[in-house]
Amino acid sequence: MAATAALLMALLALAAAATPATQATPSATPPGEKTTHIKLYWHDVVSGPNPTVVQVARAATTSSSKTGFGAVMVIDDPLTEGPGLNSSTLLGRAQGTYMSAGKDDVSLLMNMNFVFTAGRYNGSTVAIMGRNAVSSAVREMPVVGGTGVFRWARGYAQARTHTLDLKTGDATVEYNVFIKH
Ligand SMILES: *[C@@H]1O[C@H](CO)[C@@H](O)[C@H](O)[C@H]1NC(C)=O
Ligand SMILES: *[C@@H]1O[C@H](CO)[C@@H](O)[C@H](O)[C@H]1NC(C)=O
Repeated sequence: MAATAALLMALLALAAAATPATQATPSATPPGEKTTHIKLYWHDVVSGPNPTVVQVARAATTSSSKTGFGAVMVIDDPLTEGPGLNSSTLLGRAQGTYMSAGKDDVSLLMNMNFVFTAGRYNGSTVAIMGRNAVSSAVREMPVVGGTGVFRWARGYAQARTHTLDLKTGDATVEYNVFIKH
């Protein structure tokens, strides 16, 4: 009995001595967690017979506002692998809303789910909610959650305008999404 206890004490002491080495890397990803990077293109189609973004509300003052302050849009935007809306593989849809939340600057509040309908993430979703200052070259928004393979997700998305048709408002935006899950 006593010998066993002594052995146990010795093992515990060894374990304690080894602990600082493992604690030296506090940023290490917990077992089972990984980081996934997804690059895709988001298409806001305003023009044509089949728009993927519709305005559902606006303030009485929106039309006189330079920033569109108070406008609310609903989107069901295609997400494709490459930049070509019609030529590239459809990976899913961005479903949600965005609203003009900037009185003096063009600043959107994005609130959307990336719903994957093809490829390796088919059936999973990623929830993105955050500020999109559209005139900035790179806009960063938080990933606040997910479902399917993205359960427990957290991370961030970076948006860069790929093309913007100033006449129609049609836009293609490159999204790089970094997700821990
Ligand atoms: C994509 O196809 C639709 C319908 O076929 C067409 O109206 C639209 O102009 C095309 N868009 C691009 C960017 O080629
Ligand atoms: C995505 O998953 C659904 C449901 O499992 C399946 O019916 C569909 O064929 C899949 N789509 C692709 C493109 O793999």
